[in-house]
Amino acid sequence: MNLMNVDYNGLIPNNVDLNADVRVQKALEKWHPGYIDWWNDMGPEGFQQSLVYLRTAVSVDPKGWAKFDYVKMPEYKWGILLAPQVEDRKISFGAHRGEKAWQEVPGEYRAMLRRLIVIQGDTEPASVEQQRYLGKTAPSLYDLRNLFQVNVEEGRHLWAMVYLLQKYFGADGREEAEALLARRSGDPDTPRMLGAFNEQTPDWLSFFMFTFFTDRDGKMQLEALAQSGFDPLSRTTRFMLTEEAHHMFVGETGIGRIVERTCEAMKANGIDDPNDIAAVRRLGVIDLPTIQKKANLLFSLTLDLFGNEISTNAANAFHAGIKGRFREDKLDDDHRLESGTYPVLRLVDGKIVNEDVPALSALNMRLRDDFVADCNGGVGRWNRVIEKFNVPFQIGLPHVAFHRHIGEFSKVKADTDGNALSDEAWVKRRAEFLPSDSDRDFIESLMKPETEPGRFASWIAPPKVGIDNKQGNFEYVKIA
Ligand SMILES: [Fe+2]
Ligand SMILES: [Fe+2]
Repeated sequence: MNLMNVDYNGLIPNNVDLNADVRVQKALEKWHPGYIDWWNDMGPEGFQQSLVYLRTAVSVDPKGWAKFDYVKMPEYKWGILLAPQVEDRKISFGAHRGEKAWQEVPGEYRAMLRRLIVIQGDTEPASVEQQRYLGKTAPSLYDLRNLFQVNVEEGRHLWAMVYLLQKYFGADGREEAEALLARRSGDPDTPRMLGAFNEQTPDWLSFFMFTFFTDRDGKMQLEALAQSGFDPLSRTTRFMLTEEAHHMFVGETGIGRIVERTCEAMKANGIDDPNDIAAVRRLGVIDLPTIQKKANLLFSLTLDLFGNEISTNAANAFHAGIKGRFREDKLDDDHRLESGTYPVLRLVDGKIVNEDVPALSALNMRLRDDFVADCNGGVGRWNRVIEKFNVPFQIGLPHVAFHRHIGEFSKVKADTDGNALSDEAWVKRRAEFLPSDSDRDFIESLMKPETEPGRFASWIAPPKVGIDNKQGNFEYVKIA
């Protein structure tokens, strides 16, 4: 069997020769109906019978894995896709650096690996649940299709993690696979595991910010897991990253198109002051300060996903060779980090200070710093759109101490520049930094569906090019 190509003959498409692995095939076939039930219950509400122009992987070769076609989402070919095995791959970091990569779970790291896979797996269905109602207010069929592409791929990411659990973790893996279908985003009794995945994604500005920031946390975690000494995890996450790139694209271009439309409308109507919110809103576009506030919210919620500043779990996972750094294989150091330090922002006596801490204990912050740098690339591209229109406004990322619920800074209130605020000042100024009820009401007032092919809601510009190079009026979703 050519493991570049995906076998679509059986019930479960795969490039792992599932036919030869009866035990895992049976386990997955048993899990499958529960997954479909979950999708029908918690997937995109109101569009399960619509034909959506989706891409499906037909190969894991980076040069052309996607085939586009109309499909009803519940019939999407969710499958098990691993990047090709690298021959003679070695563990590239930690105490086992230089040893052969593991093809089976090393007994001593079983619990740690299982936990990392379950946490990653839990985020995948969570985001589908969070985005469940957005189809009803999509600003175009193009955007509706992109939402659904993201949704089915998050579903496939769940399959990816469930495959690892069922193949390598026996009975408790099967139990975890069931539990992944049982938790629900935002449910007070059975919530998803991480905070940001229990928040609401009520409107499309939130959705684009979520795919820009929160899916990018996903990308960073997958990059770190792609370095893993446990080879099946590395191969799985490497393929997931090719899908994740589209989610980044949806977020970055979505916000870019909103910003473009706002600036264009301001110029066309002779409004020069980006802070004249009432005048800008009268044009049916989203004012830049509100876009900034949404960025502040989603950025700060996403930072919480990187965990505590000082973390022994992260140190242990690195030392064990289970979870590496962002692009570990491109870094030039000893890859063991038993000596050396890393600068971390900490809260000492109520003041934010930069402190050098042992490098191994600062790995969460290192990944977070890489994340912030990655975010800044996209934010810079939004700002270039604003500059092109000569509008005096720049979008920026807030200070990492702003609006935090996890880690050192959860104990303080800070403004977006990182200055400490009293509780009283915070309450008074909150609406300067985060969307207020009236901001939310305004955004909600714009959320009207646009279902005419080729047409776009007033508040967002059309994309530069269509998906799969389709023309502007292509019917990306045939709504049933
Ligand atoms: Fe994902
Ligand atoms: Fe994603």
